[in-house]
Amino acid sequence: MAQDSIESVLRENRSFPPPSAFTAGARLKPEDLKALRDKAAADHVGFWADLAREEIDWHEPFTQALDDSEAPFFKWFADGKLNVAYNCLDRHLETRGDKTALIFEGDEGDVEHISYRELHARVCRFANALKAKGIGKGDRVVIYMPNGPHAVVAMLACARIGAIHSVVFGGFSAPSLKDRIEDAQARMLITADGNYRGGKAVPLKEVADKALADGCDSIETVIVHKRGGLDVRMQDGRDIWWTDAEAGQGDDCEPEWVEAEHPLFILYTSGSTGKPKGIQHSSAGYLLGSIVTNKWVMDLQENDVHWCTADVGWITGHTYITYGPTAIGATQVVFEGVPTYPEGDRFWKMVDEHKVSVFYTAPTAIRALMKLGEELPERHSLDSLRLLGTVGEPINPEAWMWYHRVIGKERCPIVDTWWQTETGAQMIAPIPGVTATKPGSCTHALPGIAADIVDESGESVTESDKGGYLVIKEPWPSMLRTIWGDPDRYKQTYFGKFGDRVYVAGDAAERDDEGYFRILGRIDDVVNVSGHRLGTMEVESALVAHSAVAEAAVVSRPHEVKGEAIIAFVILKGDSGAEGLAEELRGWVAEQLGAIAKPEEIRFADGLPKTRSGKIMRRLLRSVARGEEITQDTSTLENPQILEQLQTSGH
Ligand code: PRX
Repeated sequence: MAQDSIESVLRENRSFPPPSAFTAGARLKPEDLKALRDKAAADHVGFWADLAREEIDWHEPFTQALDDSEAPFFKWFADGKLNVAYNCLDRHLETRGDKTALIFEGDEGDVEHISYRELHARVCRFANALKAKGIGKGDRVVIYMPNGPHAVVAMLACARIGAIHSVVFGGFSAPSLKDRIEDAQARMLITADGNYRGGKAVPLKEVADKALADGCDSIETVIVHKRGGLDVRMQDGRDIWWTDAEAGQGDDCEPEWVEAEHPLFILYTSGSTGKPKGIQHSSAGYLLGSIVTNKWVMDLQENDVHWCTADVGWITGHTYITYGPTAIGATQVVFEGVPTYPEGDRFWKMVDEHKVSVFYTAPTAIRALMKLGEELPERHSLDSLRLLGTVGEPINPEAWMWYHRVIGKERCPIVDTWWQTETGAQMIAPIPGVTATKPGSCTHALPGIAADIVDESGESVTESDKGGYLVIKEPWPSMLRTIWGDPDRYKQTYFGKFGDRVYVAGDAAERDDEGYFRILGRIDDVVNVSGHRLGTMEVESALVAHSAVAEAAVVSRPHEVKGEAIIAFVILKGDSGAEGLAEELRGWVAEQLGAIAKPEEIRFADGLPKTRSGKIMRRLLRSVARGEEITQDTSTLENPQILEQLQTSGH
């Protein structure tokens, strides 16, 4: 009994129906959503096929919607032809040519408005520059740039000529960049002198030079955008300035009409082994997912000003900056800097200045800004806002309520959107004019998305508040197509557990008695730091690459702002002293992988808790890192005394 009452206290009972004023102006009304759901339930494939015909401008129409003959390698709209950049730009020129596509704000507050016509011209010019350097359909181009219009132009220029881009987030280190270039066998790298954030310049070209110094033999050309004044070294015959590459190129470039399944991009993400996975997305299916979710969930309309605060280096920036909003002709803000520079009200100041109406950010940013106090948002009216969104990790109800009350002024629905690099677009999320929201829940699957929670045997979990594996039981157009160069790993990772049709997301989830989903977190060895996925194995590999380290195990523990923080248990080699080494190792990991992977804490010990078969017992380490009492069975532990040492070593 006592336990029951504790559970019901923890259960979220607050529910927020959509404000009627919002519903009145929303794209989807309750009857529209019902019609979509009914249609999807009656004919899953036909539902998506009709949307693909309505939402995409095809160069050649498709005749077959889904080819599942080689499941889990699904093909959507395979015999159709299109160009994604054409859909994002050209089709707006007649009706929206002078409409602002991008409002760019730089770190120092410089602002530039770019119309659809201007964006189209820039993309064509740069696409011609890529062609002049010998880049064509199917070639891989790595983009390692600051967040801004040049990155968007580079991505769309690749799409225009059928080249496959792989954007590497500007915070990644030289070894990470090198791994990604080599895995993709990229012929070209597009970068900039530096990344200007928070009043500081982080060098990019210099890091790229390090990456290219040993290996990366596939790279023939490096195009460098001069964003600021950082000194860079240009290598003769290989490196060229962006403006020189563009010089003399025309503002028109015939789009390359590609097959629907032609890969639009690769984006690397962490998995449970050390090697990042190159998630490969298609052209048409991905575009369709981007379009419908920007309409259904973000409710983007003709007069909205959208702002997704993600960097284009992540999937969120791909779908909710570069492709989705442009494909539907929206106006959006693109921001180079950080939320706390020059002051902690930067986001709110920008919302007022640019009249942002739809705002999409990460729980980690909300928590960080919440800690700074209400005085900062109160300096600004925030009147233009009508819809708020979150993505990347579970949002704790406290942060949700703050976002609702202090930013949304209790007037803006909040869409908590669950999805992944692999899913391409939002999957489980509220429809803002229809769904009553609950803090901490991403609510229900979108129409045409067959999300379910299953137990170990693959049976649906029907009881409320009982966790299980989050799965998607039918293919959907914007799903990943494979892991670049590793189809076996694709099959094994996502379809290895419940067969060729059931996509396993890698998250645990539960549903309440009204069927609302709540995401509980990863079930594999992936941690989520500030909304970014990191494989614990990647951090472990980086640690053991240090000459003083013999063995390492990495786990996470909850963190107030970051969501999760990384804790590393390290065994040193015989003659290494631990003095000053924790700091050195933290810096080392940042250098190897990038600053986001820097461990919060390092604990040294003589050994790790292992089973008799030599497996590290991570669940024990997790308890140790969290300072919890060990209640798990330790009878299979080979070296029980080590636990005590680990528990005290951090203090
Ligand atoms: O664990 C889930 C968490 O982020 C993972 C996907 O990370 P990534 O591929 O980097 O994409 C992030 C942006 C789409 C998921 O497996 N996650 C994402 N959104 C949510 C979430 N967890 C809870 N609630 C969310 N809304």
